[in-house]
Amino acid sequence: MKSMSQSPLIVAIDGPAASGKSTVARKVAAALGLVFVNSGAMYRAFTWWVLENGIDPGDTAAVLGLLKSTGFECGEEDGTGTIAVGGVRMTRNELAASAVNAGVSLIAAIPEVRERLVAEQRRYASSRGVVMEGRDIGSVVFPDTTHKFYIDASPEVREARRRAEGIVDSIAQRDRIDSSRKASPLVIPDDAMVIDSSELGIDEVVGSVLERIRSSAE
Ligand code: DC
Repeated sequence: MKSMSQSPLIVAIDGPAASGKSTVARKVAAALGLVFVNSGAMYRAFTWWVLENGIDPGDTAAVLGLLKSTGFECGEEDGTGTIAVGGVRMTRNELAASAVNAGVSLIAAIPEVRERLVAEQRRYASSRGVVMEGRDIGSVVFPDTTHKFYIDASPEVREARRRAEGIVDSIAQRDRIDSSRKASPLVIPDDAMVIDSSELGIDEVVGSVLERIRSSAE
């Protein structure tokens, strides 16, 4: 593909919680030989660290104090981006804990937290091709990439998906905070391809994304 041999290919996939974007992004990355990066996991990891340090996610001053003294290390394992916060790699269960679900939108609304993590995300993609998913990847982190996707699904379908995973998650509340915050709210980038996954299987969504990337790189 043309752009693979030039600067690293960046595919941005945004969408609300439980829209299926992580699964889609992981499969697209595998198909293209790129690294899959879940940027939500970075916000979750820092939220876990805030809680681990006994700080209330609503106490912005204390969160900022901790942010200053915290190091982030991004790496790669089996084609997936990893992050250590304060030298600690959290497990999948820790990142999906209900206390993290409840606090992460508050943490992600703090501009200084976003600045730090966006800098890490850009640095990461400067040396390798990525499929990165999140809320602001096409709008803020990589506004210049030509490969932007927005994966949506109805609130009912998204709630049902989380329940089926056995995860306690206040999707509606996170949607509200993520979409209404001042700093980089969840938006559909103007030039993104929008796919509603409510009635589609994952492979159909992945197929549409790959077809679009391949046709625009020809
Ligand atoms: O994708 P997720 O549900 O794991 O993301 C967790 C939270 O992190 C989400 O509620 C909002 C925030 N987030 C963000 O603000 N920006 C991103 N690029 C990714 C996630």
